[in-house]
Amino acid sequence: MCGIVGVVGNKNATDILMQGLEKLEYRGYDSAGIYVSEGASKGRLIKSVGRIADLRSKLGIDVAGSTGIGHTRWATHGPASESNAHPHTSETARFVLVHNGVIENYLQIKEEYLSAHTFRGQTDTEIAVHLVGQFVEEGLSVLEAFKKALHIIEGSYAFALVDSENPDTIYVAKNKSPLLIGVGDGYNMVCSDAMAMIRETSEFMEIHDKELVVLTKDSISVSDYDGNALERETYTAELDLSDIGKGTYPYYMLKEIDEQPTVMRKLISAYTDEAGQITVDDAIVKAVQNADRIYILAAGTSYHAGFASKDFLEKLTDTPVELGISSEWGYNMPLLSKNPLFIMISQSGETADSRQVLVKANEMGIPTLTVTNVPGSTLSREATHTMLLHAGPEIAVASTKAYTAQIATLAILAKAVGDANGNSKAAEFDLVRELSLVAQSIEATLSEKDLIKEKVEQLLETTRNAFYIGRGNDYYVAMEASLKLKEISYIQCEGFAAGELKHGTISLIEEGVPVLALISNNEVLASHTRGNIQEVSARGANVLTIVDEAIAREDDDIRVRTVHPFLSSIAMVIPTQLIAYYATLQRGLDVDKPRNLAKSVTVE
Ligand code: M6R
Repeated sequence: MCGIVGVVGNKNATDILMQGLEKLEYRGYDSAGIYVSEGASKGRLIKSVGRIADLRSKLGIDVAGSTGIGHTRWATHGPASESNAHPHTSETARFVLVHNGVIENYLQIKEEYLSAHTFRGQTDTEIAVHLVGQFVEEGLSVLEAFKKALHIIEGSYAFALVDSENPDTIYVAKNKSPLLIGVGDGYNMVCSDAMAMIRETSEFMEIHDKELVVLTKDSISVSDYDGNALERETYTAELDLSDIGKGTYPYYMLKEIDEQPTVMRKLISAYTDEAGQITVDDAIVKAVQNADRIYILAAGTSYHAGFASKDFLEKLTDTPVELGISSEWGYNMPLLSKNPLFIMISQSGETADSRQVLVKANEMGIPTLTVTNVPGSTLSREATHTMLLHAGPEIAVASTKAYTAQIATLAILAKAVGDANGNSKAAEFDLVRELSLVAQSIEATLSEKDLIKEKVEQLLETTRNAFYIGRGNDYYVAMEASLKLKEISYIQCEGFAAGELKHGTISLIEEGVPVLALISNNEVLASHTRGNIQEVSARGANVLTIVDEAIAREDDDIRVRTVHPFLSSIAMVIPTQLIAYYATLQRGLDVDKPRNLAKSVTVE
């Protein structure tokens, strides 16, 4: 939520800030702003409600300077407006600040320190920059004022602060919100993620919680809030600029859907040894072997991927698996088994709700494994172990390739543990072959885009609501399919266990309500779901069936090429991703940036 970018040095700051904000836009896109210094006490502050394109249209060609900070906002305190857009300024406008996170004690700060101040908007951020300004007025140096403010401020934050009177320095600090330093030659940068800096540099430096960084064009000093200097190595990121472009695609979501066969193959190569056998770090395998219960904690799509993986994890590792919603578990930890292992699933590795659970788990001494797409992300750094998804950057807000990669990665883990335990089902499960078949099944579905588009246009054109139904793993896919449809097309959609409908929800079925039924290759479950289709059809529902081709009937709508039952969720979800995509296109909505959402949810 919210993206920050800053640069100091020998570069054109406006250009860097604007292209950085464009790359960060997926983090929040209700308003944006930049501050560019044109010399001591000469700066330009430009803000706009709406997208980065709206901000760009407000820029004059003459905004030039080599220090600046920028921000793209996902509103928490106060609506999307120019006065609430960042950067914010102090009472005298000497200090300029951007912030990602939530300052929990901002009202107390306002009352205790800033009662005589006038504020322009309603944000918590404005209080932070006023506080720094106030302490400087009282006689502290800028650095001491910033440190003093950091000791007082509680909550989550990534800050970048500029003193307009001395614009050759950017002051940076973070707690719980992501922030990274980009190291250049004659310039340095700060940003919410590497993707927004990769055009300028591939050398980065991590900042940890409660650290303060002072950036000039040729120096980076890291310290704790008490001023103790800290050593920090830089590292080179493997990101490629082409990974983060849309290429010829109209939307990132479609590109990411299409990338899924490649991701399956990348996962095979990342997790096989020279003999072509699945291999996972011994320490991770041992961590699972030592556990008497696996707890999967995640949010949204990642939570659904956990469900889709529960069955094979239990069958292959002989360990019970329990699922938890991160935002619930962070503060309501249930009674745990004696030797738990927590698996955190998170595409971004930055989700604040999941991080809160991880913090608790670490305090409790529970071993943890993070399954993430982003190496070096907070959840990766703070967990005992990490497994990477190798899916490449996922930029569309609606998660697609991360979901399928999460299931495949957990299958790899389950297979490795099962093999180590001598589990007979694991021995029979030739995962390398099965994942190759999954890649082919995905390709076969992708080649049916026109058919799927046509079905969607008939079924979902004007509806306000819809249901996905299924049993077993298909029920878990129904949960994910309905999240995908509602988050981007705004069609209210529920994912339902097919057999549960008749226990209440079937009362919502009336003439014309779309019901999308998922039937993968399990004869018994299939026949029961077919029965449930009859029940809703008899009440006027418009049914669309998505069926494994091995058991499909003449009149089924979409066929999915058969894969191993452990991996059916991967194959079955692909048509539902395309359904969400085409339904959204048909409604003329922005597929990649649905309203009210942001890609990386870094506030609780
Ligand atoms: O980065 P994470 O996987 O931790 O994100 C969790 C959810 O916010 C995320 O999966 C969200 O539900 C998706 N954008 C839905 O498509």
